[in-house]
Amino acid sequence: MTRQLVIGNWKMHGSIGKVRSVLPELARAKLGPNVAVCIPYPYVMLAKSLLKDSQVQVGAQDVSEYHVGAYTGAVSASMLADIGCELVIVGHSERRRYFGESSENAARKLRACLDAGLFPVYCVGEDAEERASGRHKEIIAAELAVLRGLPIGLYAVAYEPSWAVGTGVIATSEQIAEMHAFIKETLEPRTRVLYGGSVKGSNAEEVLAVDGVDGVLVGGAALSASEFLDICMAAR
Ligand code: G3P
Repeated sequence: MTRQLVIGNWKMHGSIGKVRSVLPELARAKLGPNVAVCIPYPYVMLAKSLLKDSQVQVGAQDVSEYHVGAYTGAVSASMLADIGCELVIVGHSERRRYFGESSENAARKLRACLDAGLFPVYCVGEDAEERASGRHKEIIAAELAVLRGLPIGLYAVAYEPSWAVGTGVIATSEQIAEMHAFIKETLEPRTRVLYGGSVKGSNAEEVLAVDGVDGVLVGGAALSASEFLDICMAAR
């Protein structure tokens, strides 16, 4: 059985000093290739060099849907592959909320990653109002619809209900099990589905024990080496 994935998403946090303090600790911990850190673009090459003797993978948090050309400010999947990136988060709820990204944009980004040989992690999730009105499955189904026809196994899906992101309110084990089962039924049972939203050292074991959880996508807790390592140790 493949090990559960533990992916850290630093979001727009950090500095050279922070990267230099956290990543060597991960390197020393002898983690496997099931662990990855998605850090801001400017630090990717530094991260690669700090992790060169480690199996920890380095990823980015976004990518352009375009391959090459006059797209000021954009970073292509082939550029990320060129500097050693191995995976990319696409369609994160913060990209959808603050940058107006749609599922169609995210699907194009996902395809660009596949073309460049990168492993994309496609995020889905409902907001608090959608959950309260019982529309969560409908929302997720719509977000998954754009993945039809894409080769299973070459990407993962992260279930991140936005009401649990950065709030300290984690989804219950029942909610996680139900939504992961729903995602696997909608796509394909073999799809790797990660949970994200207020995962910490203290709750990682419980989340990773839930049926259908193939890993976790970790925000705030990934900024502390010791807390992130606790989460990595909980992966089976
Ligand atoms: O992508 C990870 C994320 O959105 C969860 O953030 O801080 O709740 O772990 P956090």
